[in-house]
Amino acid sequence: MIVCVCNNLNCRKVREAVDAGALSCAKVYLHHGVRPQCGRCIDTVREMLQTGSGEGARTGLSELSA
Ligand code: FES
Repeated sequence: MIVCVCNNLNCRKVREAVDAGALSCAKVYLHHGVRPQCGRCIDTVREMLQTGSGEGARTGLSELSA
């Protein structure tokens, strides 16, 4: 699932950044050498960070909003 359309970041890429130690949204983008543009994905990235090590991404984002 695409998380950030502007930067073509999917769940796997966000999870990769989190697993590599990204502790903030900014660090997730920085890990991939991009910057947030429209900002519509920030809440989703933040939720994935709060699950720790991207666990939410492994189980699907729909579960995060339940
Ligand atoms: S969707 Fe991520 S910056 Fe636009």
